[in-house]
Amino acid sequence: MTMKENGLTFTTAARETLYEVIFNRRDVRGEFQSTPISDDILARLLIAAHHAPSVGFMQPWNFLVIRDDKTRHDIHALFKTANEEAAKMFESGKQSLYQSLKLEGLLTAPLHLCITCDRNRAGPVVLGRTHMTEMDLYSTVCAVQNLWLAARVENIGVGWVSIFHEEEVKKRLGIPEDIHLIAYLTIGHVSSFHQKPDLARKGWRKRLNLNELVMETEWERQADLSLTTSINEELARLMPDSEEESNLDE
Ligand SMILES: Cc1cc2nc3c(=O)[nH]c(=O)nc-3n(C[C@H](O)[C@H](O)[C@H](O)COP(=O)(O)O)c2cc1C
Repeated sequence: MTMKENGLTFTTAARETLYEVIFNRRDVRGEFQSTPISDDILARLLIAAHHAPSVGFMQPWNFLVIRDDKTRHDIHALFKTANEEAAKMFESGKQSLYQSLKLEGLLTAPLHLCITCDRNRAGPVVLGRTHMTEMDLYSTVCAVQNLWLAARVENIGVGWVSIFHEEEVKKRLGIPEDIHLIAYLTIGHVSSFHQKPDLARKGWRKRLNLNELVMETEWERQADLSLTTSINEELARLMPDSEEESNLDE
């Protein structure tokens, strides 16, 4: 078991575990099992989400738990229509690959979770949201990520489904107009977790080279060579088995 040594310091083993959780978190679509998620697990996931950072400690989120068949099927129907529209938006060469991708597990996942943002929760003027007004939306995304990582360490799969007309989903779920839909998640036990993202395995997109994304001092100025080298070394140390994930192959 990884233990906090005291209130402030984590053990090396705990640190390594956190990185493992981060690298092995996956968006799950095709591997859900029908076994229900127990309330104690769901409670822990919700608690993890609720402990995310939020601008002005606004905690603008709500969590709508969906377990009944009828609603899950209705939401799947909304996805299907939007996904047919989505396929046509890509250039013709990519359409058939797009159509071959599994982009949701709405019918197989026993639990859906809709995470919303109430932008009025803390009144009109919010500490930290005074100038960059979208910070409450981003705070809610932090809650999603907390839940996603907590789920992985519980060996529970999470898939984020966003191919919907937001208004149609809100209407079906009775979500008020002024509440923003941030994430529609499918959650369930899984047969297995893949090591690499589905979109990478299926040839849609590769992970980018981190060193090409890091700059220093000003935009488009390359990072210091010692940082670049450290990124390559740490990647090789943390992910020794992952050829495709490594910046060293590029
Ligand atoms: C905001 C957001 C929306 C997403 N929407 C979808 C979606 O509609 N369908 C889908 O299959 N995956 C969706 N994903 C999952 C991404 O495709 C996935 O995170 C990415 O391919 C990397 O894979 P990984 O999460 O397994 O590392 C979404 C992810 C995010 C962060």
